[in-house]
Amino acid sequence: MPISALSFNGLRNLERVEIEPVPGINLIVGANGSGKTSFLEGIHLLGLGRSFRTRHLKHVIAHDAGAMTCFARLAGDPPLSIGLRRSRDAGELELRMAGERVARLAQLTEALPLQLVNPDAFRLLEGPPAGRREFIDWGVFHVKHDFFEAWRRARRALRHRNALLRHGRMDADSLLAWEQELAHWGERLDALRHDWMAAFLPVFQETLAGLLSLPELTLRYSRGWDRQRDLRAVLEQGREVDRQMGFTQQGPQRADLRIRLGRHPAVEVLSRGQQKLVVSALKLAQGRLLERTTGRTCLYLVDDLPAELDAEHRQVFCRLLESMRCQAFVSSVEHDALVGPWSSHTPLAMFHVKQGAGGRGRLVPLGHGQTS
Ligand SMILES: Nc1ncnc2c1ncn2[C@@H]1O[C@H](COP(=O)(O)OP(=O)(O)OP(=O)(O)O)[C@@H](O)[C@H]1O
Ligand SMILES: [Mg+2]
Repeated sequence: MPISALSFNGLRNLERVEIEPVPGINLIVGANGSGKTSFLEGIHLLGLGRSFRTRHLKHVIAHDAGAMTCFARLAGDPPLSIGLRRSRDAGELELRMAGERVARLAQLTEALPLQLVNPDAFRLLEGPPAGRREFIDWGVFHVKHDFFEAWRRARRALRHRNALLRHGRMDADSLLAWEQELAHWGERLDALRHDWMAAFLPVFQETLAGLLSLPELTLRYSRGWDRQRDLRAVLEQGREVDRQMGFTQQGPQRADLRIRLGRHPAVEVLSRGQQKLVVSALKLAQGRLLERTTGRTCLYLVDDLPAELDAEHRQVFCRLLESMRCQAFVSSVEHDALVGPWSSHTPLAMFHVKQGAGGRGRLVPLGHGQTS
């Protein structure tokens, strides 16, 4: 469901934001430091409950404000409102949906599937496996209903097993019970990830081919434990070493997505621009698969569109994004980088982030359906 109204208050340097985005492409233009990334960060918070810039949400609250609130109305029949609030004093994030307090972030995430493409995109390839695991799990979460329960229970069992491993004297019965729980839910998680991967792969290949030619690029899902043995045997046989290390070394918590170019890890051989395009292909393919399997569209946040991309690849990326008929928010410091690649059939709006006194940023609509 696209966002039909957005309202932010107390978000970084931005003055109160009240806008009505179009269901298609929303372009955000403004000078360095005007607040473009902050604006996208607000939408990211609504969909994922966390920022892509900081782990500490207190930094997102405007310096002179006591709290930050973000609100979105999602178009639909009936429309659905989602919101969150974080005050400087209370560390807790308050979540709301259709006017009611909700406890689980997963409810917001489910309502607003979103993907971010920004200048840090290469980190998905370069960074630790956790980012790639999260990428897989985003896909599984949105298409398989029982994923969240399996993920939650496996995580809980792992936490208990690790705590017991670190105890001086192990309670053998409890350890066995949590191990069985971990083995059961871990296998389930793996089956879900595995099935998702089988569906994802052809969609990714098709998407990548539309962006650039890298026929040798391969993706492989690695489940996090030895391929020959089931998880129960791995946990049982690894118990002693795990106890010495103080944590569980193999299991679904070690799953990864291996991305290679021929025989080399892709990150070692691709240029920065190529890395951004590969990551873009991964993220656009997520949205495509979501749409094909559930009929729901994914929202895209594209921060600093021109970063690392030449004019031709920028054009190809925009065309692909547009063809998916998703809602997108695309930012740039350069007005000219944002205009041009869109067809006249796509709903289009442009917003200018104007910097005022004291560095405050104000979002001003520049008109709908026009880009120049
Ligand atoms: N908590 C905060 N309160 C007030 N201002 C803040 C806060 N955090 C950051 N800022 C300021 O907000 C401004 C906007 O930053 P932002 O990263 O959104 O700009 P941008 O338009 O994306 O710039 P660029 O084009 O350089 O990426 C910066 O000047 C920054 O110093
Ligand atoms: Mg920025």
